[in-house]
Order: sequence, then structure tokens, then C-alpha cells
Amino acid sequence: MVKVSVFIGTSLDGFIAREDGDIDWLDDANKKVTSSEDFGFNSFLESVDLIIMGRKTFERVISFDRWLYKETKMIVLTSKDIQIPEKLEKTVTTRNISSPQQLISEFSNKSVNHIYVDGGIVIQDFLSARLVDEITVTIVPILIGKGKSFSGLLSKDLIMHHLKTTVYDSGFVQIKYKINKKNNE
Ligand SMILES: NC(=O)c1ccc[n+]([C@@H]2O[C@H](COP(=O)([O-])OP(=O)(O)OC[C@H]3O[C@@H](n4cnc5c(N)ncnc54)[C@H](OP(=O)(O)O)[C@@H]3O)[C@@H](O)[C@H]2O)c1
Repeated sequence: MVKVSVFIGTSLDGFIAREDGDIDWLDDANKKVTSSEDFGFNSFLESVDLIIMGRKTFERVISFDRWLYKETKMIVLTSKDIQIPEKLEKTVTTRNISSPQQLISEFSNKSVNHIYVDGGIVIQDFLSARLVDEITVTIVPILIGKGKSFSGLLSKDLIMHHLKTTVYDSGFVQIKYKINKKNNE
């Protein structure tokens, strides 16, 4: 079985970005923590075989100074004909899918064991389809009042099982949850 994980940063009021997609509050908070602190991201990334990312998040991450995802294969979900930067052509492909199940079922017999899903809409769709096994949320000590959520489309509650909490000196708090599919049928 393929494991599907979410690894995300949120404001204390649960938003991943402002309504217009801006993550200035997250960037500013990150600038205040020591540059060697990655909140476990790189070790998480090493465990991942494939990233599935929404087009809007992809457009944001390619604007960063450096590519955060190393050589990990990435599928960007989009209905558009988007341009992939030449240096990423070997790792990044695009797909337009009718449902998360359709995509996941393609990997059930292949050498993909761990998928990282990212992007507000994409995470919402995978949660709604009850395909997410683990969520790591890093809470940034800030309230932004309104913004984009990663769970807004849920039609039914999802019960989480707490695995670990890490409190950082910077005031960031990281909580890791498992989603037991049997508890959520
Ligand atoms: N705080 C954090 O840790 C964190 C993490 C991730 C993202 N973010 C932020 O969240 C914002 C983006 O989130 P978002 O919810 O607006 O967008 P998103 O999920 O990144 O992207 C949504 C887009 O993905 C495409 N898409 C989704 N499902 C699809 C499907 N089944 N088939 C084809 N295409 C599909 C569509 O692109 P088309 O319109 O091209 O068809 C859709 O408009 C960004 O500002 C990003 O920086 C923050």
C-alpha cells in the first residue's frame, strides 16, 4: 500500500496562505529561525518517492531562490499547459486527473511507497477522498485572521491519532498525526 503524507506549515488559526496566496508571514517567521533548522523537512523528503503538487503551489515554489525538493519526482496537477523550467524537466511532469484515487491506483503496483501531497486544493481533495495516512503540521506563532485552508472541502470529519509533538525554541510547534482509515470509514 502506498503511504500518503501531508507536511505543511500553518498559522495558529490554521491557514496555509493568505487569501491571495501570499505566504509573507511564513517567510518572515522562517527568516527569524536559525538557517540550519528545517523542522524535519529534509529527512521527511528523503523518505518520499513522489510529490504531488497543485499548480498554484508549484508556481510559488519555483519562484524561491532554490529548489527545495532535490531529485524527488514531482507531478504537478493542472488543467493548463504550463511551462516547466528546463532544469526541472527530468523530475517534474504535469497531469490533469479526474480524481485522487485514479492517480494513486496507478502507483499501487509500482516502486512508489511514499507520496507527499502539497497545495491547499490538492490536500483537500486527498483528505476528502480519505487517502491521507499522515499529517505533519508545523504551527507558526501568528494569527493572520483569514486565508486558505487545507481542509475546507471536507464533507465528513476525519479523526486523527496523535503521534508526536515537538516544541521549537522559535515558538513553532510541530504536531504529527496518523489517520487510521478504519476509524474513518
Ligand atoms: N503553508 C504551507 O506550508 C503551504 C504549503 C503549500 C502551499 N501553500 C500555499 O498555498 C497556496 C496554493 O494553494 P491553493 O489551494 O491555492 O492551490 P494548489 O492546491 O496549490 O493548486 C490548485 C490548482 O491545482 C490544480 N489542480 C488541483 N487538482 C487538480 C486535478 N485533479 N487535476 C488537474 N489540476 C488540478 C488546478 O490548477 P489549474 O488551475 O492550472 O487547472 C488548481 O487551480 C500557495 O500560495 C502556496 O504558497 C502553503
